[in-house]
Amino acid sequence: MIEATLTVRNDSPIGTISPRLYGHFAEHLGRCCYDGLWVGASNQDIRHYDGFRADVVDALKKLPVPMLRWPGGCYADHYHWRDGIGPIEKRAVRLGMSCGLQVEDNNSLGTHEFIKLCSMLGAEPYLAGNVGSGSVQELCDWVEYCNSNVKTSLARERAANGSSQPFGVRLWGVGNENWGCGGNYDAETYAKEYRRYATMLRHVDPTAELVACGHEDEWNTKFLETNRRHLDLIDHLSIHRYWIQGGPEIEFTEAQYYTLLHEAHATENFVQRTAEFIHEHLGTQSHQIGVALDEWGVWHPEARTWGPDSENHRSPITYEQAGTLRDALAAAIALEGFHRQCHILTLANLAQIVNVLHAPVMTEGASMWVTPTYYALQLHIPHIGAIALPVEIIHSATLPGQESAVTATASTKASKIAVTLINRHFDQPASIQLATPTAEVVEHASLLTADQPQAVNSSANPDCVKPVEMTVYADGKNQWRVELPPHAIATIQFG
Ligand code: AHR
Repeated sequence: MIEATLTVRNDSPIGTISPRLYGHFAEHLGRCCYDGLWVGASNQDIRHYDGFRADVVDALKKLPVPMLRWPGGCYADHYHWRDGIGPIEKRAVRLGMSCGLQVEDNNSLGTHEFIKLCSMLGAEPYLAGNVGSGSVQELCDWVEYCNSNVKTSLARERAANGSSQPFGVRLWGVGNENWGCGGNYDAETYAKEYRRYATMLRHVDPTAELVACGHEDEWNTKFLETNRRHLDLIDHLSIHRYWIQGGPEIEFTEAQYYTLLHEAHATENFVQRTAEFIHEHLGTQSHQIGVALDEWGVWHPEARTWGPDSENHRSPITYEQAGTLRDALAAAIALEGFHRQCHILTLANLAQIVNVLHAPVMTEGASMWVTPTYYALQLHIPHIGAIALPVEIIHSATLPGQESAVTATASTKASKIAVTLINRHFDQPASIQLATPTAEVVEHASLLTADQPQAVNSSANPDCVKPVEMTVYADGKNQWRVELPPHAIATIQFG
């Protein structure tokens, strides 16, 4: 049994946990968009809202999904937005390309459909623009089409296609992974290209928030250095982090379990380092550039053709993988870091929203189920929009990666406190002494765990892992005792 003591502090609040840190990512890749989200407006077999699967939309509404990035990913640098507007039956059929796949793409899910999905979900749209095979003018036109209030031909075309009101899309990605699939640029060349795009895009819509393509430290430094006199053209610097070292999706060992959780934990350090590079370049300028972790999550070997153990990938590759309780713990560990860095991390998108990679929602034919990660995200709802508070670990056991076995994140909203605790230990329960600054009663407490971290939901067994209510014991003024099983996440809402 692990004994741990944690204290929530309210003397040095970290910042607001923006809803944008709970963003999602829908790429035209495998069965994420087509089949997972979109079944088509004329589909007679699956219940849908204007072409979007009703069961999936209903589940996503409860997550929630405050922000959604689309249409890629690597797909974005092949995407021509004009292919996806106008009468569906007249839309061009193109090669749908991302991550080595080539599929027939009828463009039936285009800009208007995506904006409709966002409004159903209450999500802010984030559009990823095409740099690799597009042009500055093409992206400027997309921004004008979406956002212009002036009755230009493009705005009239938008109205003729059903939306007299502008969509008001604030977030625009200027390419995706342009160091790789988005054109194999070197950092300096992309930096100059970015500058041209950003200058022209700002003329079209000065309120657009532009997301530049970042990468690892060396690229980020060169990109910022090349644009040192134009840093005001950058609002967010995009980085991606996939955890790939954890062995098989389900049949992992204890050592592999810890390796994956360690990778998830290290994401925070990557965000911090990126913010430090930005800070070094900005110096005393008042303009701010946020870190945009606009793709994050687990990418198991069964779902990729590259990286460790990828010889075990499914054939043909579908980019689909089983999501176990271990993946939910990894997500919760990353979210802890997001909260701690909420003053520098401006947005984050879990990759991806349905069926593909670290998906919270899965479909198979007419059936739909949610993964343990879905519930891990739901356990964090009380933190969204709240003020993040530091949690001091006074005492705990240490894991092989040197992290604490028991960790937590806390926040306050409307004078109430929410705490999410994680027992990361593979097989040891934890007895936790928790001190809160003001709490008087426990309003609600939920626990997510299972007999083993390999536990997984499926079409045949959709409720294998799901949250249950739990008891928290008062142990003196503002003192609480929480008993957590191994590999568990719990959220306590205090009043
Ligand atoms: O999410 C899958 C792929 O991962 C995206 O298309 C790309 O941006 C990244 O490499």
